[in-house]
Amino acid sequence: MADARTKTIAIIAGDGVGKEVVAQGVRVLERLSELRGWSLKLVSLDLGADRFLRDGATFPAEDQRFVRESCDAVLLGAIGDPRVPSLDYARDILFGLRFGLDLYCNVRPVQCLDDRLMPIVGKRASDCDMVVFRENTEGVYVGVGGNFKKGTPDEVAITEDLNTRKGVERVIRAAFEFAVAHGRKRVTMSDKHNAMPHAHGLWKRCFDEVKGDYPGVEAKHMFVDALCMQMVRAPETLDVIVTNNLFGDIVTDLGAALQGGLGMAGSANVNPGRVSLFEPVHGSAPDIAGKDLANPLATVLTIGMLLSHLGFEGEEAKLIEVVREAVRTGHCTRDVGGELGTRAVGDWVVSQLR
Ligand code: NAD
Ligand code: IPM
Ligand code: MN
Repeated sequence: MADARTKTIAIIAGDGVGKEVVAQGVRVLERLSELRGWSLKLVSLDLGADRFLRDGATFPAEDQRFVRESCDAVLLGAIGDPRVPSLDYARDILFGLRFGLDLYCNVRPVQCLDDRLMPIVGKRASDCDMVVFRENTEGVYVGVGGNFKKGTPDEVAITEDLNTRKGVERVIRAAFEFAVAHGRKRVTMSDKHNAMPHAHGLWKRCFDEVKGDYPGVEAKHMFVDALCMQMVRAPETLDVIVTNNLFGDIVTDLGAALQGGLGMAGSANVNPGRVSLFEPVHGSAPDIAGKDLANPLATVLTIGMLLSHLGFEGEEAKLIEVVREAVRTGHCTRDVGGELGTRAVGDWVVSQLR
């Protein structure tokens, strides 16, 4: 059996700012590896818009096999490029990983790390410390549907919201298990079963059954419209949140605004014990790509989650403190009030690793 400190990590920088932030993330991994005596094998996969435009490949079978059979984790920047209007290639890669590896929990911490980043008047950073469990393999993302009479005035367009008992139950249980393991007091499940009684009725029934197995955790239900208001009005009342794929996508960009923006939001796509995918919440940000403006701190936080998943205890907490300090001391990009470029923030983060 391989040494527990020997790990293979596939690196998919992808498109736009993905390349810039992942370059800094790789430096962090390399420096930590050197300091701790780990043996991390970082293998770059040439996937994204450049590759697609060059030879039409999106996520070749040999790369899928390599990730599934030879890697411990994947670090991804972002996929999406204005030169490729059809996002089919992006879905092949992102959903190829999320669905292909059955990564049913998209864990997105919404933690504000400094008072200066808190946009709500009268609230402090400590008022915002939630973790969103976004279902990551079902819902409207599965691509079931179609168009009839496309492009005509009579067009019919259908996207199905697919929810299975197994899929709903496993992510709800994961949220409760996380709450128990991390001493969190409350799990809030969010849906729209008032408007969508079939699909979201399943979520409500399942939640009401599963919560009985976790008597030590307060279980609360909130419709997603009310949740959005509550996130802004009283973030301190929210702790662990579990919701479907689409709502989880949307509420975590709202959550990012409570953290200082998308440049501060990390995420993990996991199936416990399996090769999992780690990516910042943000996209390829074409408006700032290639200008050394992108905030790499979301990627640093994401690497913390990756290291926790690989069993490197204590590293995530240390990286969170380095990120907090970067913001506190102004060693950060403009989006979070600093004046440094992407690379200079990377330099500073690397210089702080002990
Ligand atoms: P986006 O997250 O790329 O950008 C939204 C806004 O946030 C922009 O103003 C951008 O400049 C800013 N921003 C994003 N990341 C930042 C960072 N690290 N530092 C500072 N500012 C940052 O969302 P979008 O513009 O809606 O999407 C752009 C492309 O990315 C689209 O093709 C979309 O499909 C794709 N996308 C991919 C992923 C992914 O790969 N996981 C996630 C979201 C969006
Ligand atoms: C995200 C993104 C993706 C999603 C897009 C690019 C399909 O917004 O990772 O948050 O909706 O999951
Ligand atoms: Mn998103």
